[in-house]
Amino acid sequence: MEKFNKQEIDEKLKAGFPMEHRWHNRFHLEMPFGLINDPNGLAFCDGKFHVFYQWNPLGCEHKNKCWAHTATRDFIHYSTPELALWPDDVHDKDGCYSGCGTVEDGQLRVLYTCNRKEDGVRIPAQRFGSLKGGQIKKEDIIVPDHPEGITGHFRDPYLFTRRGKRYFVIGAQREADETGTVLVYEETAEGWKNLGEVQTRLGEFGYMWECPNLVQFGSYDVLIFCPQGLDERAFDRQNLYQAGYIAGHLSLDSMDMMQHTKFQELDKGFDFYAPQVLTHEGRQILIGWMGMPDKDNEYPTAEMGWQYSLTMPRELRLRQGHIYSRPAREMKDLRIAETAVELEAENTTAISRTLFDGSEILLDMELGESKEIVITIAFGAEKLRFIYDLKAQVMSIDRNEMRNGGRGVRRFRLFADENLSLQIFVDKTAVEAFFQHGEEAASLLVFPEKNIQPELTVESNGRLKSLSGKIWQLDSFKFNC
Ligand code: FRU
Repeated sequence: MEKFNKQEIDEKLKAGFPMEHRWHNRFHLEMPFGLINDPNGLAFCDGKFHVFYQWNPLGCEHKNKCWAHTATRDFIHYSTPELALWPDDVHDKDGCYSGCGTVEDGQLRVLYTCNRKEDGVRIPAQRFGSLKGGQIKKEDIIVPDHPEGITGHFRDPYLFTRRGKRYFVIGAQREADETGTVLVYEETAEGWKNLGEVQTRLGEFGYMWECPNLVQFGSYDVLIFCPQGLDERAFDRQNLYQAGYIAGHLSLDSMDMMQHTKFQELDKGFDFYAPQVLTHEGRQILIGWMGMPDKDNEYPTAEMGWQYSLTMPRELRLRQGHIYSRPAREMKDLRIAETAVELEAENTTAISRTLFDGSEILLDMELGESKEIVITIAFGAEKLRFIYDLKAQVMSIDRNEMRNGGRGVRRFRLFADENLSLQIFVDKTAVEAFFQHGEEAASLLVFPEKNIQPELTVESNGRLKSLSGKIWQLDSFKFNC
């Protein structure tokens, strides 16, 4: 019997939308069954944004990797996701791994890694495909195996253009010392040519770099990648694996990332990995995976047959070597205007409000005498806290008072002088927070035991000079559009 029957799987999917379980998010992409991970193949074609993502339709394990597909004009109305690509030949029999999207002569094409293992040996191949009739038709393999000096950990191509020529970056592991790196390939008349490694000043930086993206911001190149094997530090690298970037100038002649910044993370939350960026009409739109490899036991929805979520789309800007991320402007259209609640207080030490079933919260505080501010999202006795220590200039996110799923604390430096500003999206389990107008972002999942309206409290150890803000109920994404 066929393992992946598109028709059957698509029918089962159709029946699964809208998703009812109280832990299913409303304005984050996810699936009624199976495990999803990396966003793939982002492209704008035929007036629509196309979003693909890794998906195991057969269970909640990291295997049977297929690509799911949905399309949207506005990031709110989506086509019902479908199975678009699945392992069905010798090259990708062990998974259709991550890859990117592109548009050629009006045709959406993808480039992905075919995962194949023979006697435990990885033989990764890079292959093009074209979206036709809801399905990716597999085309040429352009790189049949890993190059010399690189192990079988060679995957996740991301196309970019320079002076009319096409290139891709790809994640890799050096054979000599099993450290992570990124390679560049160039399209030539004779095929795709390996230009070698991108030289950086990072030195030894983990054992594998997954999911690279090369994105241009004005005259700067930003290399986004996901290093594995970095040690935790006091204010960063606190997840098992990281997702971050260096900004500089990539010379394809010297293969050098010149004058690059230090490595910075794109997100400081617990659940963020393998992001992909789509450049469209001057916008840099990022979607990330809300999850973490090798931490599956921290996500209790597996018991119900599905796992993980994608972030909302974000828009990135580069300022002085640092990426600012804000929710894509389309997310404002989710606000249900009549539900708006104004927050306005002066010389206060505490406010509290009941949230909606799906909320966006804007908070602007003039700190005044306050030295510590605690923002709590309470689900009955269970609590998620954002704690800002003004003296240390440190934000902490504390999930220890949640009963289900992953716990712990994440800490990061956040500069605040007189003002502290937060924008927090609270979906059923997905929470995304943006600090100081996008200077930092954090994605995380919480799995409240009870299905109750969350309660927001802001508490301060001294009087806040002022607090203003707004709360909206947010509408759900619509499917079958
Ligand atoms: C990152 C990753 C990629 C790989 C894919 C497989 O989460 O490990 O490197 O292509 O997931 O699902």
